[in-house]
Amino acid sequence: MLSKSDVLVLRNQFPALSKQVDHRTAVYFDGPAGTQVPERVIDAISNYLRNHNANHGGVFQTSVESDQVVDEAHRAAAELVGSADPSTIAFGANMTSLTFALSRALAQTWRAGDEIVVSRLEHDANFTPWILAAQDAGATVRYIDINETDCTLQLEQYQETINDRTRLVAVGCASNAVGTINPVKQICHWARQVGALTFLDAVHYAPHGLMDVVDWDCDFLACSAYKFFGPHVGILYGRKNLLESIQPYKLRPAPNDLPGKWMTGTQNFACLAGTLAAIDYLADIGRLEETTPPQSQPDTPTLPPDAGSGQFRRPALARAFDRIGEYERSLLKPLLSGLAANPHIKIWGIADPDRSRERCPTLSITHDRWSPRELAQRLNEVGIFVWHGNYYALPLTERLGVEPSGMVRIGITHYNTHEEIERLLDRL
Ligand SMILES: Cc1ncc(COP(=O)(O)O)c(C=O)c1O
Repeated sequence: MLSKSDVLVLRNQFPALSKQVDHRTAVYFDGPAGTQVPERVIDAISNYLRNHNANHGGVFQTSVESDQVVDEAHRAAAELVGSADPSTIAFGANMTSLTFALSRALAQTWRAGDEIVVSRLEHDANFTPWILAAQDAGATVRYIDINETDCTLQLEQYQETINDRTRLVAVGCASNAVGTINPVKQICHWARQVGALTFLDAVHYAPHGLMDVVDWDCDFLACSAYKFFGPHVGILYGRKNLLESIQPYKLRPAPNDLPGKWMTGTQNFACLAGTLAAIDYLADIGRLEETTPPQSQPDTPTLPPDAGSGQFRRPALARAFDRIGEYERSLLKPLLSGLAANPHIKIWGIADPDRSRERCPTLSITHDRWSPRELAQRLNEVGIFVWHGNYYALPLTERLGVEPSGMVRIGITHYNTHEEIERLLDRL
């Protein structure tokens, strides 16, 4: 587990974490909407713009250097999701844009009578793109419901719903609203049994647990670097033969091979450099005993010394997420117990601290006197940052009947501390 001093070393790498609000250090519980970034991510972005800024595919020096950075970002992102092949990674503006692009491409292969399965636990980005694509193709959408008491999926419905007409099952790895971790490996297995494709939304899961496209045996997975300490970049993984055989909407001069075929327009190269730095930051958490990560990377025009050495990050990433998970649960448990002891507060989703392995450390609450907006405002007055509303998890908030005001979301990441949890509980 990350020790108190490990967390201090890590926190010192995040400039935003020293922000003061009325002479008090700001508390960031807004990670599910976008985490803060370590100095090395900021440095990598400015280093790219200072030293390597050029478009893709030229023969001159900065273009070659820029392509090296992008290639390394592909390798790092492949290792992050557990793929051995960097060409299975496409970058884009964000998860939503990539999902819309994939859904339109896949829908060209769907016909009337085909069925698409989505769940009510989703962020709308893993819901509406599939529904619109199904409408275009005349396909039918089938919905998996939740158990209202703990906001887990009604798993038995998958077995009832998936059949030989199912073409795609889209499900999140974890809920961005209530934190529930879904058994995606099992769901992918059920889909595979009937030859259906699977799409996993790992956006919320990515900063908390190790993604593993091989073990989960999914066909597609999407996540976003700005949720795991990087800049605003979307990441799509696809099984190679599918990325090769499916025809995306693309421009004629754009590449026909992988991964360029799936990457529309000019990429945000500077932020790809930042994404690479964010993944290396995570890998360094797994290496904490060996070396203490520097406060920031030197502003150097060279690539990291270990660039291009293949699978060097994956074992470190696996160790990092073991540590992160254990540490985050050590914060989540007292938070759940403290909230349960407050008679004014309702916790939506898994509230039992003993079930903390079934959820990410992201929880939504409502208060019997303050609206979600008022509660978030009152917490802001003492420098505690939380989200209110539906956080685009509209399928869930509609299902729970909490629209239009929604809930208040408290999102823990590994840079939060026990003292911050106490501050929050005190204020509540
Ligand atoms: C679970 C989940 N899926 C999808 C998205 C959409 O991601 P993006 O902002 O990269 O489009 C989010 C963003 O909050 C999310 O939390």
